[in-house]
Amino acid sequence: MTAPEQPMTMEEAIKQQLALAIEPQEFDSPEYIKDPFPLYKRLRDHHPAYQDLFHNNWVITRYDDIVSVFQNNDDFDRAEYDPKGDYEFGTKHVFGPNILEYGNSDEHRFLRNVVADQFVGNRLQTFLPFIEQIAREMMGKIWAKSADDIAEGFAETGEVELISQFTTQFPIRVISNMLGLPREDEDTFVRWYQHLIEGLGFGGEHFARGMQARNEMWDYLDPLIRRAEDAPGEDLISRIVHAEFRGQRMNADEIKGFIALLLAAGGDTTDKAIALMWYHMLYTRPDQFEEVKKNPELWTNVFTEMMRYDPVVHFQYRYTTREVKLHGEVIPERTSITLLLGAGNRDERVFKDPDTFDIFRDDLHMGRELRSGRYPDGKHGHLGFGMGQHFCMGYAMARQEAIIACTRLMEAMKNPRPKFATHAGITSPNLGSGGFRSPVELWIQFDVDQG
Ligand code: HEM
Repeated sequence: MTAPEQPMTMEEAIKQQLALAIEPQEFDSPEYIKDPFPLYKRLRDHHPAYQDLFHNNWVITRYDDIVSVFQNNDDFDRAEYDPKGDYEFGTKHVFGPNILEYGNSDEHRFLRNVVADQFVGNRLQTFLPFIEQIAREMMGKIWAKSADDIAEGFAETGEVELISQFTTQFPIRVISNMLGLPREDEDTFVRWYQHLIEGLGFGGEHFARGMQARNEMWDYLDPLIRRAEDAPGEDLISRIVHAEFRGQRMNADEIKGFIALLLAAGGDTTDKAIALMWYHMLYTRPDQFEEVKKNPELWTNVFTEMMRYDPVVHFQYRYTTREVKLHGEVIPERTSITLLLGAGNRDERVFKDPDTFDIFRDDLHMGRELRSGRYPDGKHGHLGFGMGQHFCMGYAMARQEAIIACTRLMEAMKNPRPKFATHAGITSPNLGSGGFRSPVELWIQFDVDQG
């Protein structure tokens, strides 16, 4: 017989409350940046609507709450500015005027509709051969260097540092090809892109370098845009220049801002997705990697489970348009809300064993994502592309690119095995910068099969 449970003393209750309390500084701590998931769980369980007085925002962590916010345009807006006040578009972002600046407005719908169909369906299909070609070319170079190093006695086996030699370059080469930019300028684009990204997450000299890269890129794009106006081709710049929505086209600054955004939104994210897929196969689930080697079609499951378990983008922001009540808390009008996508994806109210990476899980919708987030199979989707009006425009392209890259990499690298990796955690730690999380170094060894 077990002894009846004693009620808690006041002192014990206070101790428990203190243990469950969350200090806003925890969001800036090295422990959180490295591994945010324990704090996410405490937030979900004890503070599902948490007021962070230090960073001046409210943090939302449960899956269902995040979905409700994404789907509720009446109470939540993405606009950083007060729609009733003054705001000069294009002055706050390194990209220039771009779709991310607009809230739930008609202008947002217009800009989105102008180009959204370029990254899905038949339009996307026409670009797939390019994507394949670039993956093969890049992997061919890596393979050839390894073969030379072995032949000259510098190495005993094939070796690649995947982040610097492949992932940070591949998506940007894909996008610049889609845009129709000259192939000999790809390296310049990779450099501009890296500075733009730096300028996004960090201030001071990084922002200045980002702005300089932006200005250089804009000057470079001017004649290409004029050419596309006069003699349109099949490239993305021509399509963006000529795309119309209700008889309207984008102006020149919007076109350039849009191209800059595509380089960053499509590059920095997909690059990290590919790195995370390899990282989790090599280090988290080498047993399941054996299954993927036998059946490469499973890369699609690896992509989806990665977007749930360790999504590239951990935070998204919204602002309340009126007073909102959530979990007994009252959130005032024009308050910043942080949606912790990485926390919602690990919500045990939705996913079984959420802290286990499992490409065969039966409670996650494994196929193509839907903007509505509602799946006919009744399963839940990951939150990694957002949902609703601002749902990622490149979702289909990112998935295709990542899967093509991983499949071609695995074809070229026989017997791939881990050598060394650094997963720094959230690499853009400040809460204003999207919270991207990925490995920063990933060395892989492989056999160079001369056959
Ligand atoms: C794995 C790769 C990617 C991830 C994790 C990702 C993630 C996201 C997320 C979470 C949002 C939602 C923003 C919000 O709710 O406010 C978003 C929006 C967006 N993404 Fe992606 N993205 C990826 C790839 C791409 C690619 C390849 C492109 C372009 C070719 C792209 C272009 C965009 C654009 C333009 C938006 C803004 C959409 C809007 O405001 O209507 N993304 N992305």
